Amino acid sequence: MPTESASSSRCGVVWARELVRDLAVAAKVPPGDAGRFADALVAADVAGIPTHGISRLNIYLRRIQAGLINPRARLAVRRRRGGVLVLDANNGLGQVQTLKALDKLVPLAREHGVAVATIRNSQHFGAVSYYCNRAAAQGMILIASTNGEPAVSPEGACQAFFGTNPLAASFPTGLGWPVKIDFATSIVARGNIIAAQKRGQRIPPGWALNLEGEPTTDAAAALAGTVLALGGHKGYALALMLEVLSGVLSGAAIGPAVGSMYKNMNRAQGVGHFLCLLDIAAFMDVSEFKQRVDQTIQGIKACRKRPGVSEILVPGERSHRRAQENHELGIPLEESTRAELKQLCKDLGVKFRLNPVDDLRPPAPRRRSLPRAAAHTFRGASSQASRRGPTHQAHRWPQ
Ligand SMILES: NC(=O)c1ccc[n+]([C@@H]2O[C@H](COP(=O)([O-])OP(=O)(O)OC[C@H]3O[C@@H](n4cnc5c(N)ncnc54)[C@H](O)[C@@H]3O)[C@@H](O)[C@H]2O)c1
Repeated sequence: MPTESASSSRCGVVWARELVRDLAVAAKVPPGDAGRFADALVAADVAGIPTHGISRLNIYLRRIQAGLINPRARLAVRRRRGGVLVLDANNGLGQVQTLKALDKLVPLAREHGVAVATIRNSQHFGAVSYYCNRAAAQGMILIASTNGEPAVSPEGACQAFFGTNPLAASFPTGLGWPVKIDFATSIVARGNIIAAQKRGQRIPPGWALNLEGEPTTDAAAALAGTVLALGGHKGYALALMLEVLSGVLSGAAIGPAVGSMYKNMNRAQGVGHFLCLLDIAAFMDVSEFKQRVDQTIQGIKACRKRPGVSEILVPGERSHRRAQENHELGIPLEESTRAELKQLCKDLGVKFRLNPVDDLRPPAPRRRSLPRAAAHTFRGASSQASRRGPTHQAHRWPQ
């Protein structure tokens, strides 16, 4: 079932990735890092998590532009013991620094069976399952979390303290897609409320409180107030656990000290991440593990269904189907996001090029000079990137 809405239209995966990468390069992100950043963002759209994909590009680049994110930051190791790494993102892009952290963790996990990293001084890093799926593709299990800007109130409070502190883990299977557990400990990811606000829609009752602690369906009032924790006191407890692992243990900012990506355009976010990587081969053969997961899935699917239910899905299955559809038809892109991309292109001197599907070839490259204003704002920005078009086949993204 195609999933685009009335306010969205499709664009090819490769085209989207190229445009995001070109814009990041124009914002002074080194080309290799820009490619990884684009991978992470577009993969979220491919997997049906548009709230954490291209729709966030504008704010990431605006924060680079404002000097609040260092596009060229190096990931530093502050401490190391056995399989433990204490890392400092040095205020770089969360996606890029987390991928670099994962590169360091994989050989450590192969050596020790388990490797754990905390990362401080980072930013919002998008959909957590992106990193978990990469680990699963290598026969490993990554359990990951992050803290975030205050959005969720402790049980009984009407003041935001926690981020929406997501928890994720992916498990390789023999089915061609991983089981993917990835959710915010708020009743919904805040991105859903931001998306509703962008579309001018109300949010369902039960999601949020306004500033006075009263239930609200107004997206703007909800963003000013607090999102409710998942499952009452249990979600609150889980949010606290993840705050301790991602914020306290990492040496990052804690709770309300984490800067808001949208509201605080005068300070860095100081987000912390927690990554725990298990090498399955240290426990059993990866093929045996996959077989056992597959058996588990079969058992779940064979359960007696509730009335009106035609199929029992496993976490990650819907995403996999969505990804197949999006690779074939292109990813749905909201009009508001498309408009932001156009404006970014204008500001950064990048040619706006997006095609609905990937098999359309781009027009012959044309030389194009940087507009004066953009050249001033982003001194040294590369316009090379804007002259290329996608020339390679779409590859399958970690979903
Ligand atoms: N970086 C951050 O600070 C941050 C904060 C919050 C959320 N997020 C991201 O936002 C995204 C969305 O979070 P969310 O809380 O809205 O997730 P969600 O409510 O959409 O739940 C997603 C989980 O439920 C599973 N699922 C969904 N439908 C299912 C079905 N019918 N049957 C079985 N399983 C099903 C999915 O596989 C996934 O594991 C996640 O990728 C998360 O990492 C990021």
